[in-house]
Amino acid sequence: MAYLFIPLIILFLFHHAVTLIPPKFQWKTMDFAWKGSERESAITNGSYVPVHNMPTGLARWKDKLFITIPRWKTGIPASLNYVYLNGTQDAPLHPYPNWQEGCLAQNGSVVSNRTVVSTFRVNVDKCDRLWVVDNGVSDMSMDVKQVTQPSVLVFNLKTDELIKKFVLDENVLRDSSVLTSIAVEIVGKNCAKSYAYITDMGSNAIIVYSMDDNDAWRVENHYFHFDPHAGVYKVGGIDFYWSDGVSSGTLSQPKKDGYCDLYLHPTSSTKQFRMSTRLLRNKDAPKEDIFNGVEIIGDRGPNSQATSCDIDPSTNVLFYTQVCKNGLGCWNLNKQFNDANTPLILSDCNLMEFPNDVKADREGNLWILSDRQSRFLYEAMDFDQVNFRVLTAPTATLIQGTACEKRSFFSRISDTMVKVR
Ligand SMILES: *[C@@H]1O[C@H](CO)[C@@H](O)[C@H](O)[C@H]1NC(C)=O
Ligand SMILES: *[C@@H]1O[C@H](CO)[C@@H](O)[C@H](O)[C@H]1NC(C)=O
Ligand SMILES: *[C@@H]1O[C@H](CO)[C@@H](O)[C@H](O)[C@H]1NC(C)=O
Ligand SMILES: *[C@@H]1O[C@H](CO)[C@@H](O)[C@H](O)[C@H]1NC(C)=O
Repeated sequence: MAYLFIPLIILFLFHHAVTLIPPKFQWKTMDFAWKGSERESAITNGSYVPVHNMPTGLARWKDKLFITIPRWKTGIPASLNYVYLNGTQDAPLHPYPNWQEGCLAQNGSVVSNRTVVSTFRVNVDKCDRLWVVDNGVSDMSMDVKQVTQPSVLVFNLKTDELIKKFVLDENVLRDSSVLTSIAVEIVGKNCAKSYAYITDMGSNAIIVYSMDDNDAWRVENHYFHFDPHAGVYKVGGIDFYWSDGVSSGTLSQPKKDGYCDLYLHPTSSTKQFRMSTRLLRNKDAPKEDIFNGVEIIGDRGPNSQATSCDIDPSTNVLFYTQVCKNGLGCWNLNKQFNDANTPLILSDCNLMEFPNDVKADREGNLWILSDRQSRFLYEAMDFDQVNFRVLTAPTATLIQGTACEKRSFFSRISDTMVKVR
């Protein structure tokens, strides 16, 4: 049997020769598009501490690339920012929606209902809206302050107006809540009929927000918790232990029944899960249905923890970060979920040290953010080096010749081989 696999392995190496893509943006420290002498005065008064700014999320809309910086520490001018795509490689950040409302007031409170206090990840939908889940806290790692109530904010990207703000209250939150991502489902062609699925990594839940009903509810399941077998990490030479629950979700295209599947995973897990929005959208779904409603699709194997995932609608491929492998993995939704069909397609211990977020845009491009988070949190970062990078490439190019490509020669033989075995 073994000799049969030799050509396969050669083919495998050949096809999976990891593509290197040059960074579109890269920064040693995150800096902003200050006016005049504001930068110096912001550093002097402590409202900007360059080495405290670490980005964790990204999302592209037209000529803007949104970059989010949670308020782990003090000195974060703005949590929600963007750079222009035509900018230089170290393009400066612009607070969103503007300097005035993107930053906190001098007394540390919000300036208006458009001020985002602290967000990890955001999402752009096909109705040109930006969805933000704001934790509302500052100074998370030292002396946590609840600046404002956690909420969902929806912006019209064409006008930068706030369409909606929904406060998440104690009915859906817990003391340990940490809201890390937001996936958006639009029912039919009606943009007003939208649902957001928010992952609460800190208290192991999905919070569903219905825009139409202006209501939110909490969904719990054992699979939203961390897996004790997957709590050990080593990234950038640093060992650490995380017990993080469900941290990222992404939606399939609508199925025949009109509902999508939410693909989700806890951070400290190597498994991929799926749940129909038929259950999630039903506020009164029986407990038993919710309990049985999560399906395990498969296991990605050892050291395959992911912080973030996203489905590219143009190829129907799920992309996910591979934190301990400094890389990116993928799976074509039309194929069986197994080792052969979930390849590591990018990996580079320099360019991709701690890949934190991944997003497909509406034009078939993938965007990846790497941020050396383990050094930032557990050791000193060297700010003379490049620490933060944004990589981008067309999804079709990234999966070319891999098992994630549609009906590729490779995947057909490997599927056959699996059957033969
Ligand atoms: C610090 O300086 C910046 C830039 O001049 C200013 O926008 C900000 O309001 C100041 N913050 C405080 C807390 O004084
Ligand atoms: C980059 O794009 C922005 C927004 O589209 C525009 O305002 C700006 O002038 C452009 N800059 C350059 C250097 O082309
Ligand atoms: C903070 O300052 C703003 C004006 O910049 C004011 O409207 C608000 O009431 C102040 N909040 C507190 C808690 O002092
Ligand atoms: C935001 O605040 C403005 C001014 O107070 C108000 O007119 C607007 O309705 C608010 N928007 C939302 C979506 O709450």
